[in-house]
Amino acid sequence: MTNIAILGFGVVGGGVADLITKNYKEVTQLGGDDINIKYILDLRDFPDSPFGDKIVHDVGVIINDSEVNTVIEVMGGSHPAYEFTVAALRSGKNVITSNKEVVANYGDEFLALAEKYGVSYRFETAVGGGIPVISPLISFVRQNKVREVRGILNGTTNYILTKMFTYGDSFESSLNDAQQKGYAERNPDADILGIDACRKIAILSALATDKLPDVNKIPTEGITGIRKEDVFAADKLGCCIKLLGRCIIREKDAPYIMVAPFLISKDYSLSGVSGVYNAVEVVAEPLGNVMFYGPGAGAGPSASAIVGDLVQIMRSGTQVKSPVFVKDGYDASLSFEGYKSRWYVALPPESEILATRTFGEVSFIEGTRECAFVTEKLCESEMKTKLKKLTDSGCVILSSIRFL
Ligand code: HSE
Repeated sequence: MTNIAILGFGVVGGGVADLITKNYKEVTQLGGDDINIKYILDLRDFPDSPFGDKIVHDVGVIINDSEVNTVIEVMGGSHPAYEFTVAALRSGKNVITSNKEVVANYGDEFLALAEKYGVSYRFETAVGGGIPVISPLISFVRQNKVREVRGILNGTTNYILTKMFTYGDSFESSLNDAQQKGYAERNPDADILGIDACRKIAILSALATDKLPDVNKIPTEGITGIRKEDVFAADKLGCCIKLLGRCIIREKDAPYIMVAPFLISKDYSLSGVSGVYNAVEVVAEPLGNVMFYGPGAGAGPSASAIVGDLVQIMRSGTQVKSPVFVKDGYDASLSFEGYKSRWYVALPPESEILATRTFGEVSFIEGTRECAFVTEKLCESEMKTKLKKLTDSGCVILSSIRFL
């Protein structure tokens, strides 16, 4: 019998309990053992839930019960998830999590503890929700030279951008709609400011390079500045705008890691990822480009990936390999200065002379009401200098967005 405990009985915790119950035959056959949800930790009581009798309020009950083999942490947030994870690993329990915040900040520490205590720490659902991406990345991709891992890592922002492109809606009304549909997290800032995608690209970078960067130093831009006019201009260029997390691995130098909106040609596969869907694309040699695509959030998809981790643990016991990486505190903002891209820039109407004086040869976008144009490739530091020159001369920069 495999006894498990679930920490947090919210959307994801409830989804895990439901999946194990409804698909009991499939899960136990795959895992090769019966499963007992012995405890569910939550501050609340759930007298009407079929799992109501499993609820405990003291994590000590779980940590001190030697029968509990695996703890599923789906509480979210850094604390007390961090303390509970450390306690569970130290008491010889496997830990599975959906919590990208703790993985991005403390994943290296948890993996070292798991190794020390002969248990597993797994987090398949922390990136891409239900999409199996972490296991394939560590097991079937790293024999290649990985050049880049990039993706649409946040469903809420992808939903908002899709609404803006499909219906010409404003950012504000698209955000409202996302909140009404329950896609945006409690605090939408983590989504719309790119913080959630930043945690996810930190984790993917760690898996691709074996080194966890400092998540607080990853250059991160959200989508709050994207206007209807940008959508119109992007459309004129045959592009859409997507919030991407990117980790570009370089032979000799530190990787470029970033989260930002990018203009992407409508011919390119990532542009077809709509609504709350996520996609992770790996560019590797000799493999080529591989895309993992699917539902990036929600009770069912998240539960699927979590129970997938549980099945791996049940099948292989302590032999199951946790991912491996260490923290190097890498400051991605330093190398980013050298990252080069073409830019779409929008200035107030009749700024053409100023635009040419500042950027040299540019291609103006026909049919827009603003002075909108595309630059040659410029590195971040050059771009910063040019934008400063513009603002110093009193020009308002309406938008500046990179091309993929
Ligand atoms: N807020 C996240 C998203 C949830 O919108 O993608 C899944 O991590």
